[in-house]
Amino acid sequence: MTTEHTRVAIVGAGPAGLVLSHLLAQAGVESIVLDQRSREDIEGTIRAGIVEHGAAELLAGIGDTSRIYTAGHRHDGIELHFPAPDGGTEAHRIDFPGLTGRSVWLYPQHEVLIDLIAARLADGQDLRFSTTVDRVEGVESDRPRIFGTGADGQPFEIEAEFVVGADGSHSVVRPAVTGPSRAGGYFREYPFAWFGILCEAPPSAPELIYSNSADGFALISQRSDTVQRMYFQCDPEADADALSDAQIWDILQKRTPGTELNEGPIFQRDVLRFRSFVSHELRHGRAALVGDAAHTVPPTGAKGMNLAIGDVILLDQALQELLLRGSERGLDAYAAEASKRIWKSQHFSWWMTSMLHLQPEANEFDRLRQLGELRSVVESEAGRKYLAEAYTGWPYATSL
Ligand code: PHB
Repeated sequence: MTTEHTRVAIVGAGPAGLVLSHLLAQAGVESIVLDQRSREDIEGTIRAGIVEHGAAELLAGIGDTSRIYTAGHRHDGIELHFPAPDGGTEAHRIDFPGLTGRSVWLYPQHEVLIDLIAARLADGQDLRFSTTVDRVEGVESDRPRIFGTGADGQPFEIEAEFVVGADGSHSVVRPAVTGPSRAGGYFREYPFAWFGILCEAPPSAPELIYSNSADGFALISQRSDTVQRMYFQCDPEADADALSDAQIWDILQKRTPGTELNEGPIFQRDVLRFRSFVSHELRHGRAALVGDAAHTVPPTGAKGMNLAIGDVILLDQALQELLLRGSERGLDAYAAEASKRIWKSQHFSWWMTSMLHLQPEANEFDRLRQLGELRSVVESEAGRKYLAEAYTGWPYATSL
């Protein structure tokens, strides 16, 4: 087995790994990106898709392949629905441009990946699919190594100057960063999950509806003019195949009182568990974590991909300092700097989740307090503005 060499070995060809390889390449830093999934699998798995204002700007500037502004849809607001004291339903719009001057783009993550993979390959990026990384060694030296099995079934070894774990929540790089003594991270589980469907139907509303109903939460999202994505709060142990289409529509209609949903054939269903997680360590020696390898947020705030990009913008600066100017200053600042946005996003995702879902343990006081919280947000310009700022995204860091 021969040892290959690169400057940065990036494990994971999700948004974090691909955007990082682009930013590094722009600065003249060579990298190899490896992913255990096949290209077809990465491009064909339908994923969530709210892109913050700043993330959209960055993605639109990567190569000639970005379709975010042409195939994506700009969303200038969301609706929050909740029960009114008289038994009806209140609907309140959060006007993003009016409150922040910014919008978000509905553009699913797998479309982002199709664009990014095309852009990176056109740029000559060494991008290896169906390639499994088994372990990372030597992160305390200045030549860490990764070992794994290539698409051809042959073992490989890559020596790099830095290793990045952009390989999602089951990261194989994470143990090399956290070490056995601080393994794991800050963690919270939730007593509910989302039952998600994809269906063939026209949109039921012009903007996303986040509905806190007496029967539980529902989110009416979209994918295109003909395909819609919807979710409803369910038990984490729910079996996605246990409900008929008619039962699913019945639940969704009940949870969006006052809105007539356009029904259509359901062609995908899944149960998404809710977790909040932040790794105890984000960097150790010559290895660092970004994106879901570093943290997980529940999907209510739509922060996952956007937060990953925030990490990568900082790590790119730190790696340029290290690899082009020989200074470890940026690298030493990375964890503390990245954790500011990470914990703001953790709070926002937790807050949206706790404000919108029925807690199984809640008594009447808890329920009425929660509705008071929603009212405090929608009836206050400061409340609406906080939500809009967080949802459309705080500005990305310009320096480390
Ligand atoms: C989605 O469309 O999948 C989606 C949208 C907004 C969220 C979560 C998921 O908050």
